[in-house]
Amino acid sequence: MEVTLNAKNHKYSIYIEQGCLTNAGSYAKKLTGEKVFLVTDSNVFPLYFEVVKASLEKAGLTVSHYVIPAGEPSKSLPMLGILYEECVKNRITRTDLIIALGGGVVGDLTGFLAATYLRGVNLMQIPTTFLAQIDSSVGGKTAIDLPSGKNLAGAFYQPKIVLIDPDVLSTLTDDIFRDGMAEAIKYGCIRDKELLTLLENPKEHLTEIITRCVTIKKNVVEQDEFDTGERMILNFGHTVGHAIEKMGNYTEYTHGQAVAIGMVCILKMGLSLGKICEEEANAVIRLIEKSKLPLCVPYDGEQCLQSVSSDKKMTGSTLNAVFPKGLGNCTVEKWSVAEFNRLALQTQIFTN
Ligand SMILES: NC(=O)c1ccc[n+]([C@@H]2O[C@H](COP(=O)([O-])OP(=O)(O)OC[C@H]3O[C@@H](n4cnc5c(N)ncnc54)[C@H](O)[C@@H]3O)[C@@H](O)[C@H]2O)c1
Repeated sequence: MEVTLNAKNHKYSIYIEQGCLTNAGSYAKKLTGEKVFLVTDSNVFPLYFEVVKASLEKAGLTVSHYVIPAGEPSKSLPMLGILYEECVKNRITRTDLIIALGGGVVGDLTGFLAATYLRGVNLMQIPTTFLAQIDSSVGGKTAIDLPSGKNLAGAFYQPKIVLIDPDVLSTLTDDIFRDGMAEAIKYGCIRDKELLTLLENPKEHLTEIITRCVTIKKNVVEQDEFDTGERMILNFGHTVGHAIEKMGNYTEYTHGQAVAIGMVCILKMGLSLGKICEEEANAVIRLIEKSKLPLCVPYDGEQCLQSVSSDKKMTGSTLNAVFPKGLGNCTVEKWSVAEFNRLALQTQIFTN
């Protein structure tokens, strides 16, 4: 399956195919004739590096690589510095290719490396988590974290190819798979009601689910490559979700878990405003529960709302709230923070 993303100045293919990892070399060969610098992490390296390397070498490419420690702390300035030096050491030039083989951490870090090393080197994303396959590898957002916050330095830099092999998801732990489930449910809510049915038994329909999610993401990115309008719909469930993540110091709840709770909140608020009917809202909440994602805000309501007010995506005293509009559709509305918070309390989203 090939999905083409056609943004104003960037057109690229996203290939979704079981087993395509073994064929990485023939895709990479389209982008460079010589050298590849591949970044992966310490969990993915023993699982998938050799097969990708063998394929690249079979295509006649010279491969150098660097393995970062798995986990968010590697998405850092010191690690980026190490990778720049590795590129220099391995004589990577502007006509060579940089590959990210891993989850969103490897993808974001390596994407930023490719965006900035020698002012830009071709990038190929080979995402290996559910979240990275349906979300972070597509759309060109790259970033590192700074000590004072997540994703504070970054660039929009589109890959030249995204290669998605659903088979690699078989080695994910249930927890990491569930994080991706939350984002997949989000896509269903905002754009694709039928996707929600497939998500009842996700492992039986992986290729179709990934294709549907990627198609939604690419449609949104085509409309709004630089995140100034349409792309906001991808924040469904994220307003309260971000607040929960922040309150838990980014360690108590994963992003997916926080977004799941945030979606339950906004569905309840949408229900109280008549934007979605009870049957539909409950169907999604049941799916979130079935996916073993949490449903309830674990913190004090008032404190949580304060955290909503300090979200970086807020502009002044207003926020862009993404509400459901039935199932499979949504609207972005500008709300005053005070009104949003009043509705949240009235709707009792903080009580179980
Ligand atoms: N750029 C974007 O648009 C965008 C969107 C969403 C999230 N993100 C970023 O993505 C990151 C989260 O990504 P993530 O959830 O993929 O986390 P991750 O990259 O940390 O991967 C999660 C864990 O799964 C392991 N792993 C990866 N693939 C595996 C496989 N096939 N089998 C076994 N283990 C595997 C990793 O080693 C890691 O331990 C965050 O930094 C977030 O900010 C970026």
